[in-house]
Amino acid sequence: MHYPIWNMPLLGGALVIAGISIFHVIIAHFAIGAGIFNVFTEIRARRRGDSALLQFVKDNSIFLIYLAFVAGAVSGVGIWFTIGVVAPEATTYLIRLFFWIWAIEWVFFLLELASGYIYYYTWDRLSPRMHVAVGGIYAITAFMSLVMINGILTFMLTPGEYLSSGNIWDAWLNPSFWPSLWIRTVSALALAGVFVAIVASGRKGTKDDPDRARIVAWGARFLLPLGLMPLLAVWYFSTIPETARSLALGGAVAMTFIFAFGVIMSFLIAVYAYFGMLRKARNINLETALLMAAIAFIATGSMEFVREGIRKPYVLMNIMYSNGIQVAEAAKLNQEGVLANAAWVTPDTTKYSGDVAVGEAVYRTQCLRCHEVEGYNAMTPLVRNWNRPLIMSALDHLDRIKVFMPPFIGTQREKQALGSYLLTLAMPDSAWNSTPADTLLQSVPDTIEIGTDVNGGTEP
Ligand code: HEC
Repeated sequence: MHYPIWNMPLLGGALVIAGISIFHVIIAHFAIGAGIFNVFTEIRARRRGDSALLQFVKDNSIFLIYLAFVAGAVSGVGIWFTIGVVAPEATTYLIRLFFWIWAIEWVFFLLELASGYIYYYTWDRLSPRMHVAVGGIYAITAFMSLVMINGILTFMLTPGEYLSSGNIWDAWLNPSFWPSLWIRTVSALALAGVFVAIVASGRKGTKDDPDRARIVAWGARFLLPLGLMPLLAVWYFSTIPETARSLALGGAVAMTFIFAFGVIMSFLIAVYAYFGMLRKARNINLETALLMAAIAFIATGSMEFVREGIRKPYVLMNIMYSNGIQVAEAAKLNQEGVLANAAWVTPDTTKYSGDVAVGEAVYRTQCLRCHEVEGYNAMTPLVRNWNRPLIMSALDHLDRIKVFMPPFIGTQREKQALGSYLLTLAMPDSAWNSTPADTLLQSVPDTIEIGTDVNGGTEP
């Protein structure tokens, strides 16, 4: 309510956030997994005098810089930018609550950057012991930045005790903090394992190159923890609210499929890593490795998508609806009206007139975040051929028609106006060509009689 409304035509803001963040999440997790991989691999290679393995880590430490520090940092800023314009209310809420957590996270990130560069540039300048130590600093600080952020992400779905205590520690160490941290750590290691498979199998050399087989088999170990994913998923689901769980486990069929896909794919990769890579390392070729990477990316993306999806109708569970309206504000807005409290939203009288103009403005405040008029989750086909009683009845029960929609918030007058606007979407385009909207609306017959709370009655 307190910020201008930004909209990405057709796509919708939610998809823009999803696109950028899935990209970022994969890179960020990879950077963490790679840090851990590098240290363990360097230690192993030096202890065993395995020069091929050592050369492998050395050659590939540049990727940390490309991926984590360039792509990761740029897409990270991209996320800040998009959440800032798409969901400014939630972003503000999180920054205020987690100010110090984020400040600490940034310090870790800075240390991660510095040690990553030092690690890459000092292979031949530091003693092996010192170099491993720098790698260790990288691994730890990268992991710690995940730890810090993880609590903020899980808070959005499981604010837990914070709702009653208002305590920052309750907010950060919330109910899904630990299972989520494990899932992310396992994913991070797996992404590093997949990366090793790709780079190693793409190496020049004969098919039976023993160095290659050894490196692939070593990388496969980082994929094995994926086998725990089904268990971790069960643990995670035991900590999230019942409503969210039921959405993922059947309430929204698409969510269920996507979720099951993510878990099963993760598990299958672990099985393949064990049988295909660890035990018979020679069999993996570049195509297989790339296919595995694609599956791992889609699996990671799927799980993130579900995590975001099952939170609806909230952006911050039980605190703020997806459209940025705080639950605690609702009563006041029902009394005073949303438009009276939305400083940046005014009816667009150049395009619409009367009720329809008011309704369209109400639409922008409450529905646009999830429904483009045409495009993403489009409103037009949803209400096609609906008449006024049907529309008004829907507005009376939005949160019951779909559990993942917030209730309508605002005055009866605003609800009526929104109804008029939706009616303009419901009618076939041809009707609008000749007649001004308001005149046409008056002529719409109310043929279907639904419940008595239609047209402005109060809810029992
Ligand atoms: C949190 C996101 C969200 C918000 C905010 C939201 N909706 Fe929805 N709405 C959905 C989803 C998801 C669906 C399901 C779409 C489908 O079934 O294809 C839906 C479905 C609908 C439907 C079709 C219902 C049916 O049974 O076919 C209508 C009508 C509707 N929304 C109206 C609105 C209006 C009006 C607003 C604003 C006051 C609104 N929605 C706000 C997410 C939202």
